[in-house]
Amino acid sequence: MTLLEQLNIKHPIFLAPMAGVSTPELAAEVSNQGGFGSLGLGANTVDAAREQILRTQELTDFPFQVNFFCHESSPLNEVAAQAWIAHFQPIFERYGATAPSQLNCIYPSFKDHDGYLDLVLETKPQAVSFHFGIPHAHQIQALKDAGIITMVSATNLAEAQAIEAAGIDVIIAQGIEAGGHRGIFNQTFDSAIKTSDLVQLIREHCTLPVVAAGGIMNGQQAQLMLKLGASAVQLGTAFVQCKSSNANPAYRQALFQQNITQITDSISGRPARGLINHWHTQVDTPNRLTVPTYPYTYDLAKQLHAAAVTQGEQGYAPFWAGSNVSQIRELEAADLINQLVLEMIHAR
Ligand SMILES: Cc1cc2nc3c(=O)[nH]c(=O)nc-3n(C[C@H](O)[C@H](O)[C@H](O)COP(=O)(O)O)c2cc1C
Repeated sequence: MTLLEQLNIKHPIFLAPMAGVSTPELAAEVSNQGGFGSLGLGANTVDAAREQILRTQELTDFPFQVNFFCHESSPLNEVAAQAWIAHFQPIFERYGATAPSQLNCIYPSFKDHDGYLDLVLETKPQAVSFHFGIPHAHQIQALKDAGIITMVSATNLAEAQAIEAAGIDVIIAQGIEAGGHRGIFNQTFDSAIKTSDLVQLIREHCTLPVVAAGGIMNGQQAQLMLKLGASAVQLGTAFVQCKSSNANPAYRQALFQQNITQITDSISGRPARGLINHWHTQVDTPNRLTVPTYPYTYDLAKQLHAAAVTQGEQGYAPFWAGSNVSQIRELEAADLINQLVLEMIHAR
């Protein structure tokens, strides 16, 4: 059975799950057009995630996937956290605010409690994907027993092999070009492989279907990934501009005005690619302090961005985007799917 048959979709095009940007409307629009819609639910409580899944099910009868963060929870390095907070205090003051006195764990991991698992079993989406790691064996087994397809992001061969060994169904190969956070398991090193190389490497050594993600903005690039052995492609940045996404006006505008991206772990504590901003130019200096643990670091970044925005400063906004953002087009999600399909046919 091909991946498209397994997922029951028409086109080999996945909307990337994007926490904060995903909406039921965008997911449904993509699925209704024959692509594979998605909801990035990693930043949601179980109840908020349930609302989004149920709303998407109202808007489409076609399959879609839901996505959760699956990181190994690590305790906060308090010393690093206090030094980080002290460093940012004058910057908060510049925007009439006060730095937090402590950093909180703002994103629980799917692995830490079975609330998200129970929600998936209750709502039964076609597939569930995981970012930053692999769920526990009992969680994978429960999803399998329920007939739900499982997918995990990989950023190098070792992660892909661990995913296959765990009994997962599909590997999402995220290359260095990818916007936002890639699913790196161990944040202390980044293999930084480009998408086309990663797809070939995983195809050579693993038997699972591979979905290529990272820097794909048009049908020619998508078709190239299929030629290299990918079963489908996953696009994030290209869909952020769609009217039905949750991106705010400043983010939309920046996507069309700026075209250089950089990776930093200063925002969340894990490396992520976005449009160049103050984090890259003012925080990531050669003498930068030790970054506190993910996702605690993100707590401060979100508060600083919120304070700065009240003074009209967007320089601390995490405008996640892939390295090919300059190729972004202003298109509704359904039109973007149609355009990608046409371009893929021409590129065959
Ligand atoms: C705004 C944004 C948010 C993202 N959030 C998630 C997420 O919550 N879960 C996830 O698995 N991947 C997330 N990603 C990564 C995407 O799954 C995908 O790897 C990436 O968008 C592909 O690269 P591209 O943006 O160049 O298309 C995000 C990407 C972006 C741009």
